[in-house]
Amino acid sequence: MNVPATLTSKPITPRLGAEVYGVDLRDHLSEVQFSAIHDLFQKHHLLVFPGQQIDAEQQGAFAERFGTPDPVVKTEANDGSYRNAVHTVTNLNDQGEPTTSMVINANYWWHSDRAYRPAGSLATMLYGIELPPTGGDTLFADLIQAYESLPESMKRRIEGLKVVHSYEFMRDTIMKLPLTDEERKKVMPVVHDLVPVHPVTGEKILFLGMYASEIVGLPLAEGRDLITELQEHATQPQFVLAHKWRPGDLVMWDNRCLIHKATSDYAVGQYRRVLRRVVVQGKQPF
Ligand code: OGA
Ligand code: MN
Repeated sequence: MNVPATLTSKPITPRLGAEVYGVDLRDHLSEVQFSAIHDLFQKHHLLVFPGQQIDAEQQGAFAERFGTPDPVVKTEANDGSYRNAVHTVTNLNDQGEPTTSMVINANYWWHSDRAYRPAGSLATMLYGIELPPTGGDTLFADLIQAYESLPESMKRRIEGLKVVHSYEFMRDTIMKLPLTDEERKKVMPVVHDLVPVHPVTGEKILFLGMYASEIVGLPLAEGRDLITELQEHATQPQFVLAHKWRPGDLVMWDNRCLIHKATSDYAVGQYRRVLRRVVVQGKQPF
């Protein structure tokens, strides 16, 4: 690997995550810089770039090096319109004040961003702007380690199974905000392997999350129970990394093999939590 002299990295755990130093994301990255970062991403699946100072355009430009930024299904006005690909994720209401009602936001449940799309998503880049003094971590569960540690009997039981991932299921069960007919047409359910193979590392992944609604070919209740059981397994502390935010952190993660969620263990109605986000589309079905 051809690594630029100034770029250094430090693993966060032996299996997941690395901090990356010596790169200013305001700049257009050289091919050498980009490919070094890309290699680190493929290897560690989660990268933290501390101390950045980027605006929305620079964040979008960084995301575009990895692929196509994906717009967001609008959830407020039910007019089927889309928000900008680069947008903020906050606990603020329309008046710009912290509010506990944001805890109803789907980000507080384990998920892989855009798992309801045929190709899922490659990565999300989240940039910390305003954070509570403590708490409000983002948690990441490693679905590769989760698969590896399943008992052999369970690996055999789930071999070849397929799972329906549905945006509508999430809206009904978590947000309690049913889709309009127009929205429904744009986000039809998709089917993914329960155990896809990581396209780069070849490792097996226990791919679940809040969009997983049923297991193809199993009675609904049985499929749901299995999804719940496997997800409880995958999100045990030994597979989970907590990112403690500092303003200026840019965190990017691999949505193909991690699920994540926000935590509300701070005074959500009192402290502001503002992050800027962009999701990069997936490249191939899995
Ligand atoms: C997201 C997300 C979690 C958080 O932006 O996709 O899930 O901690 N965010 O805000
Ligand atoms: Mn998310």
